[in-house]
Amino acid sequence: MKRHILITGGAGFIGSHVVRRFVTRYPDYRIVNFDLLTYAGNLANLSDVEQAPNYTFVRGDICDAEAVGEVFRRYAIDGVIHLAAESHVDRSIRDPFTFARTNVLGTLTLLHAAREAWQGAWAGKRFYHISTDEVYGALGFGDEPFNEGTRYDPHSPYSASKASSDHFVRAFHDTYGLPTVVTNCSNNYGPYQFPEKLIPLLVNNIRLERPLPVYGRGENVRDWLHVEDHARAIDLIFHEGRNGETYNIGGGNEWRNIDLVRLIVRTTDRLLGRPEGASERLITYVTDRAGHDLRYAIDFSKLRRELGWEPAFRFEEGIEQTVRWYLENREWMERITSGEYEHYYEQMYGNR
Ligand code: NAD
Ligand code: TYD
Repeated sequence: MKRHILITGGAGFIGSHVVRRFVTRYPDYRIVNFDLLTYAGNLANLSDVEQAPNYTFVRGDICDAEAVGEVFRRYAIDGVIHLAAESHVDRSIRDPFTFARTNVLGTLTLLHAAREAWQGAWAGKRFYHISTDEVYGALGFGDEPFNEGTRYDPHSPYSASKASSDHFVRAFHDTYGLPTVVTNCSNNYGPYQFPEKLIPLLVNNIRLERPLPVYGRGENVRDWLHVEDHARAIDLIFHEGRNGETYNIGGGNEWRNIDLVRLIVRTTDRLLGRPEGASERLITYVTDRAGHDLRYAIDFSKLRRELGWEPAFRFEEGIEQTVRWYLENREWMERITSGEYEHYYEQMYGNR
C-alpha cells in the first residue's frame, strides 16, 4: 500500500463521503476509519464500501490515547484526516463539556499520537484537521466574507471548542514542526446528514407533515456547500496543500434560512406529488437559538488561486438530488429517527 491513512469520524456525515471517495479513488491506499459510533455515527452510511479490500473500520474514542496510539502502530499510519467531533450547535448549548472533551481533548490526543508515532520524521506525513467557518463568529449583512486572516471570535460552545482545537493544531506545527493543515468550511448539505441539522430535518418533517421549526424570524444567513464538493476539496488539500497553512472552503452560496426552508418545501412537495408549496402551512416560528450567529460567508479565493478548486454543484440541482435521496432512502431515515432521536426531538421542539 502506498499510503496508510487514518480518517477519524468516518461514520458521520462528511466523514462517510471522504471515506467513500478515498477508498474508491485510491485502491493503493489503506483507509482506516476510526469512529466511536456516537448517536451521529452510522456504519450504514458506508455499506457500499465496507467490503473493499483497502478499507478497515476500528471502533474507538479519539480521547483514548492507548487506542489511538495502537492504531498508529498497527497500521503504520502516515496521514490523518481528522473529522471526528461533536458537531451540532444546539447540543453544545445543552452539554458544552462533551464538546470540550471530544473536540479539544480528542484533537490533542490525536496530535500527540501523531507526534509520538512520527518522531520528527515528517517527510511524507500529514495531519489534516477539518474545521468550520463558525470559529470566525458572525457577520453583519454588509460585512465582507471571512478570509483566512479573520480574527477568531466563536460564540457557541461548539465553535469555541472547534476554535480551540484549531489553535492546538497550529501550535503543534509551530512548536514541534508537525506537518499540519487546517481547513474551515461553511455549512454542508447532501445525503447521509443526521436529521438534527436543518435540511434533513425539514425533508423528514415535510414527509411526516410535522411542523417545520424556524428559529427566530428565519433571517439568519448561511453559506451552503454540497458535501461532495467538500470531500473533493479535502482530497486536493490533503495531497497538495502547504504545511502549516489554513484554507477556507465555501460555496459562494448564501441563503436566508426562511428562503431555504421555502425552497426545500417546494422541492419536497413536488417530489412527493403534492401541490408545490402546500407544506408551507407547516412552517412554525420557534424561540431563537441562544447566541444565534446572524450570518456566515466565506472567501475561498486562496483555495481557488493556489489549488484551482471551485464548487461544482449548482445549488438547486444539489438540493433536488439531496431531497430525492432522503425520500428514496426512507429506511435509512426511519432507522436513525427511531428510539433515542424521538427523545432528543421532544426535548428540542416539544411534543409537536
Ligand atoms: P457528524 O456529527 O455527522 O459526525 C461526527 C462523527 O464523529 C460521527 O461518526 C461520530 O460517531 C464520530 N465521533 C464523535 N465523537 C467521537 C469520538 N470521541 N471518537 C471517535 N469518533 C467520534 O459530523 P459532520 O457534520 O460530518 O462533521 C464532521 C467534521 O466536519 C466535524 O469536525 C465538524 O466540525 C466539521 N464541519 C462540519 C460542517 C457541517 O456543515 N456539517 C461544516 C464545516 C465543518
Ligand atoms: P444547522 O443545520 O443546525 O447548522 P449551523 O447551526 O451549524 O449553521 O442550522 C442551520 C441554520 O438553520 C441555523 O441558522 C439554525 C437554523 N435552524 C432552524 O431555523 N431550525 C432548525 O430546526 C434547525 C436545526 C436549524
